Amino acid sequence: MGYVLIRGYYARVQCIERAVRNFAALPLGQPRQILCLGAGFDTMFFALAEDGLVPDGGYFELDYHPVIIQKAAVIQKDADMRSLLGEVKVFSPNPDEESLVAGGAGAGAGAGAGAGGSVAADGMVLSASAGLRLVAGDLNHLNRLKDTLSAAGCRWDRPTLVVSECVLAYLPVANADAVISWTASAFDNAGFLMYEPIVSNTATKHCNQTHKKKIQPVNS
Ligand SMILES: C[S@@+](CC[C@H](N)C(=O)[O-])C[C@H]1O[C@@H](n2cnc3c(N)ncnc32)[C@H](O)[C@@H]1O
Repeated sequence: MGYVLIRGYYARVQCIERAVRNFAALPLGQPRQILCLGAGFDTMFFALAEDGLVPDGGYFELDYHPVIIQKAAVIQKDADMRSLLGEVKVFSPNPDEESLVAGGAGAGAGAGAGAGGSVAADGMVLSASAGLRLVAGDLNHLNRLKDTLSAAGCRWDRPTLVVSECVLAYLPVANADAVISWTASAFDNAGFLMYEPIVSNTATKHCNQTHKKKIQPVNS
């Protein structure tokens, strides 16, 4: 099973990265943006930044508040990643978190808010002049998502690639369907790039299902 999983991961990375790079390089003649749902600790933004391919309309990453706080802190601590961000602004309703994200005392993997002590709040946590926007939000609450993303600078009239990689499988089926419908109605012109474990009846599926039963949404 190990080899099957490794091949699967390789194919997944190749497919998603090629599709994202193709979108970034399309001759559109107007600003475009990428919205990555449930981005987790994905590093695609940095791969694009190294190659000068960050969309001029912005690269938005959305995830639960504690995940976004921890990701922002990890990025801020790493000189190589920070060097690709340009000027950075951090925002948080909680001063401890702001210090953590800004690379202050206690910053580091597992420290502070990301480890569980956070205030759950929607909104932008980190904005970088190079285009990265780290946004906290919950895909189970679509009624709030549009305002949250608008406040972070997301534009509904711009050509947008919405990326959903191994995210919707964590939502109840009705909510996952609602995310796809919402995307189709919220944006004037968007593509939806999805990679999800579906229609599988393999050992991998059983392994995934056992894992998902064990975990809970981090801010529920
Ligand atoms: C398996 S990880 C995938 C991360 C990334 N897309 C990748 O492919 O590397 C799933 C991510 O979805 C996020 N997620 C799950 N449910 C979510 C929700 N309701 N709202 C926002 N993010 C969610 C999790 O916090 C986690 O970061």
